[in-house]
Amino acid sequence: MILRQLFDNETSAYTYVVADETTKKACIIDPVKNKTPHYIQILKELNVKLVLALDTHIHADHITGLGDLKMITGCKTMVGSLGDVSCASDSLQDGLVLTMGKLRIKVIYTPGHTADSYCFFINTETISYLFSGDTLLIRGTGRTDFQNGNPARLYESIHGKILKLPLDTILLPGHDYKGWTTSTLDEEKKHNPRLQFNKKSFIEFMNNLKLPDPKIMDVAVPLNLSCGGKNIN
Ligand code: FE2
Repeated sequence: MILRQLFDNETSAYTYVVADETTKKACIIDPVKNKTPHYIQILKELNVKLVLALDTHIHADHITGLGDLKMITGCKTMVGSLGDVSCASDSLQDGLVLTMGKLRIKVIYTPGHTADSYCFFINTETISYLFSGDTLLIRGTGRTDFQNGNPARLYESIHGKILKLPLDTILLPGHDYKGWTTSTLDEEKKHNPRLQFNKKSFIEFMNNLKLPDPKIMDVAVPLNLSCGGKNIN
């Protein structure tokens, strides 16, 4: 499997390119619209063909590159089924398995950060990877105070679903603000401060974070409901 982790300085967002080495089919996870030329360059340099672009959830802090990538490459785009995102080719559903050559991407519904958040799990012969979006971050979690976020549901997604996966799974989050790049589920289970709370304390903690809204939230959310651009179908 080919895997590249790409970082957007402005929003501290991670984007991932994953490709099957044999068929050269590639998928991109959580692309940022203004980085599209960079992605096109990397896909070309890796000699892979983009067939699929996925968003883990409707982002509030950056504009998605899904629409632009679909327009330029003709790739299929997929986002959660609950939002009204008619511009996407198809919707994500819990348990869905997306196949790209030998690679199988399992879709796991993990609400909490938003009501419509998903993680993507890839289990290769040797290593498992979890692309966790903002559900689970390294030594942190996504916030739960907008877009129908819910701390109880986030707790259930993390403890009831994510931590039930093999603990040696490599964690690849949707953001990082402190310089972390990768972790494992085992490392997070032991050292992520937010995973040490019981459910009641976690809910209390999350409800008292008092974070400011993302700077471009009022622009990003409506644009992301149209795949990042008004005229993109
Ligand atoms: Fe988010």
